[in-house]
Amino acid sequence: MKRTLLASTMVAAILGAAALGVSAIAAPTVTTSVPERADNFQLTDHTRLAHELHYFRDAKAIVMMSQINGTSVSRKAAAELEKLQAKYKAEGVLFYMLNSKDSRDAAAAEAKAQGFDIPVLVDELQLVGGSLGVQREGEVFVIDPKSGFKIAYHGPVAETAKAIDAVVAGQPVAKSRIEVKSGAAITFADRGKAAEHASISYSDEIAPILQAKCVTCHQKGGIAPFAMDSFEVVKAMAPMIRESVRSERMPPYFADPHIGTFQNDQGMTADQTKKLIHWLEAGAPRGTGRDALKEDASEAPEWPVYLGKPDVIVDLPAFDVAAKGLVEYQNMRVDNPFKEDAWLRAISIKPGDRTVLHHVVSNHVADPKLPKSKIPGGSVGSYTPGAEAQVIAKDAGAPVPGGGKLNFQMHYTTTGKAATDRTQVGFYTLKAPPKFIKRSTVIGDFGLKIPAGSARHQEVSYQTFPADAYIYTLYPHSHYRGFSVELKAVTPDGKEEMLLSLPKYDFNWQRDYDPKEPILVKKGTKLVAKWIYDNSTNNRANPDPKRDITWGEQTNEEMMYFRVNYRWADETVDNIRNDLQSQLMSSMQIGMIDDNVDGLIQETELKGMMASLKPRFKALDVDNSGALDPTEMKASGMGGRMMPARDNIDL
Ligand code: HEC
Repeated sequence: MKRTLLASTMVAAILGAAALGVSAIAAPTVTTSVPERADNFQLTDHTRLAHELHYFRDAKAIVMMSQINGTSVSRKAAAELEKLQAKYKAEGVLFYMLNSKDSRDAAAAEAKAQGFDIPVLVDELQLVGGSLGVQREGEVFVIDPKSGFKIAYHGPVAETAKAIDAVVAGQPVAKSRIEVKSGAAITFADRGKAAEHASISYSDEIAPILQAKCVTCHQKGGIAPFAMDSFEVVKAMAPMIRESVRSERMPPYFADPHIGTFQNDQGMTADQTKKLIHWLEAGAPRGTGRDALKEDASEAPEWPVYLGKPDVIVDLPAFDVAAKGLVEYQNMRVDNPFKEDAWLRAISIKPGDRTVLHHVVSNHVADPKLPKSKIPGGSVGSYTPGAEAQVIAKDAGAPVPGGGKLNFQMHYTTTGKAATDRTQVGFYTLKAPPKFIKRSTVIGDFGLKIPAGSARHQEVSYQTFPADAYIYTLYPHSHYRGFSVELKAVTPDGKEEMLLSLPKYDFNWQRDYDPKEPILVKKGTKLVAKWIYDNSTNNRANPDPKRDITWGEQTNEEMMYFRVNYRWADETVDNIRNDLQSQLMSSMQIGMIDDNVDGLIQETELKGMMASLKPRFKALDVDNSGALDPTEMKASGMGGRMMPARDNIDL
């Protein structure tokens, strides 16, 4: 929440300054000369990990070299850079290549073929190379984080070692600008178009982008710290908007645009991003025409505009959150508003106080005195920071057996300020039973262990689908150390398809990703989740980098959690297949331990709480194959130990 306060204070300060007639905007200009400083940015590398420049504020120096695929100049320069990395990495110097020419796939292929160890940042929009004034391949930038990310050196790779030595020693670089004359030129399509960019129309081109991609949150009563309700606000915020877009914090939608297509995609297209940045860099000119932001401004609706008012609203009891300390999970049990079996088409949870509410997890609690309902119980909705309403796929519904209670497990975090939360749950019902049942499962690893200080720790876990299913929704969840996450489908014959990738995960923005069309997963397919955790000091949100971290409920511990909503291809409301659900669940244990995803457990994979099986490994391996298959693993009797209490996983 610190960032929100900071942002709102800054808006007030900037608007205040503007009111006093002080120009707070130093309009950045696009130029082919190398600037004094490197402005913040985030780019995804060839392995789909994100890198934000300002994140590496503790690096001794950041060395970045422009590179293109397939030329001998770039390959030789890359080999030189790899040597420098071998020499300086241990001193805390970071190395990158910057490719403003080739596609991500092509960059990945070149990196693989050439055996690059250095990440290649793929600058597909050319905004980073463009603003750094890159002209050709083989240009090295040595950036000094200590001096506000000053570009301490720009020149050929041959002179780079001297520059690094100077920056690491805190000395000025003797020759800080050396022209790079050889190497192929890189074409920047938007370079030299200042006049064109200055005539981008705020009224016709920019305001519509902001209305489509920003205003749902940045409006009066919305969740963002300031309302974009006039040209003047946008103008005053121009430098901050530029920074937030270049560093990929805004709009807060983090699915890699190369992987999958999603219904609720809130990201900007490449063209929209470029247009907005170019207009901002041209000084955010007003031009002529109406100010749609001002004229169309309205207040945020109480419930999501695409759903309207819920059919049934449940008021959860008010809860007082103290200023400090840990709050145990609260279970709020309310009467089920549905006396008869019901089906939901959508659920919207409206947090009473977003600053303290960390999650809501729910489930139906059957009344033992009533006859058992024919429809399965389960979750009736969930909430985590940044979540939107959950909309169930067409032809399907979320079942709520009639009668009994609904349990809402609430997780509150303290913020230093006491607060009272009054959360409401809005149910949108189907008037008749649907064809299909929305099911969900959680792919997790409750044995995760993240060593203290580790910057990119990886955990892998999967489940094997015992029958064909259609995937409706993907929802990754971890706490403050989650850095990036992916989910892929691996078919029994080894074919892989990436379903979702977040090169940078953000705890504050956890949402459902609903594929445009339900994705068919064939029988025997594994859904494999891979999480990368950042337990280093660079992670500003890290509660304590000095601790080894295991699974835990509180936000200062971690989770490895990936919920998937789907339907069984052969299940209908008249043919309920709880058997498939149990088979899926029983694939969970192997999936948590089997890091190399070969369906077997090798001795080296027994880690964390499973390490206690090691002494018995030979005895358990009855067929002496050197690995434990599912039957042998089951005989270990360790299955139950891997499972946390049900109410902790049912998001
Ligand atoms: C889903 C809601 C949402 C959308 C959509 C959204 N924002 Fe934000 N924005 C926020 C919130 C909330 C904050 C407060 C900081 C935070 O929590 O990250 C914020 C903060 C900001 C800030 C303050 C500085 C910062 O980076 O934290 C800027 C600038 C900004 N947004 C610009 C934009 C722009 C430009 C767009 C559209 C291209 C946009 N936002 C879309 C919710 C949103």
